[in-house]
Amino acid sequence: MNYDFRDKVIAVTGGAGGIGSAMCRRFAFGGARCVVVDIDEIRAVRVAGELPGSGHVGIGCDLMDWGQVERLFQQVDAAFGRLDVLVNNVGMTSTERFDVRDIPSIEREVGLNLVSPLVTTRLAIPLLRGSRDPRVISTVSLAGIFPQAETSVYCASKFGLRGAMLSIGLDLREKGILAGSVLPSATDTPMLRLEAVEGGNSMQFQEPPQQPSDVVSAVVSMLDKPRLEAYARPRESLSARLAMLVPNLLPKILPLFRKRGDRGMARYLEDLERRGLARRTDGRWELVAER
Ligand SMILES: NC(=O)c1ccc[n+]([C@@H]2O[C@H](COP(=O)([O-])OP(=O)(O)OC[C@H]3O[C@@H](n4cnc5c(N)ncnc54)[C@H](O)[C@@H]3O)[C@@H](O)[C@H]2O)c1
Repeated sequence: MNYDFRDKVIAVTGGAGGIGSAMCRRFAFGGARCVVVDIDEIRAVRVAGELPGSGHVGIGCDLMDWGQVERLFQQVDAAFGRLDVLVNNVGMTSTERFDVRDIPSIEREVGLNLVSPLVTTRLAIPLLRGSRDPRVISTVSLAGIFPQAETSVYCASKFGLRGAMLSIGLDLREKGILAGSVLPSATDTPMLRLEAVEGGNSMQFQEPPQQPSDVVSAVVSMLDKPRLEAYARPRESLSARLAMLVPNLLPKILPLFRKRGDRGMARYLEDLERRGLARRTDGRWELVAER
């Protein structure tokens, strides 16, 4: 059955980013009232202000600061009195390699990608209990089921989040709250563009990146048909899952895909240049600031 968005209150963390803002647009288009949550308050308010329909709010909140997360839900309570859907979408990645990374940077990435969605979900539960059909959906990643050497801390956080969401999904189901995850592969957003210009993980460019709308479709399908996991690109997930049956073979298998990934990343950078989103200066790629 199609999910009825009308009058639903949906909070999206990282809501001013590439995937988060696309989710908010789709939910608002269906008639939901969106709470756009982002550390960048100006962009959160702008995204909320540009959504179709009415009743949306943009809230500035550092989701690594538990006091701010508590205040966020107090604001949602005051404005709406309940929460129907929490989308834990906030996340980050870094191109710093593991052997040279400093400890605070490791803690920050695991904190934002794993601990923060857990704390946010926990603190949202009283408000979710006010809904007749409460849901929690987290944006995990294909990196939550398949290792990526270049981004090992990201993988650690997303493997953790995947496991947490499966367990929480089983636990909360018995308590009337349906929880699950979507697992996108490389998606054309500011996060991926930054990773590409900084020369990050090229293995994820085996195929051209998907669009935020593909991830949104996976989220909507999960709202239509609640389940523990949904993949935006099921075929890719199948090869990743098959390869994980033989993890000891990965050091032999992965180099076979390196050249294809490098070519894919080079094509993506050229595409960003054509779209005016990146440029090459003295042989180095950099992002062009978006207005
Ligand atoms: N883009 C991809 O290739 C890809 C692939 C798989 C999964 N994902 C996941 O999708 C989710 C969304 O990613 P995206 O690509 O839209 O990234 P994005 O960088 O476009 O958006 C992330 C948003 O999070 C916000 N944010 C960062 N730190 C914050 C904090 N402490 N508190 C509150 N907000 C904060 C940023 O301001 C930004 O608006 C992430 O969880 C990411 O890991 C992305």
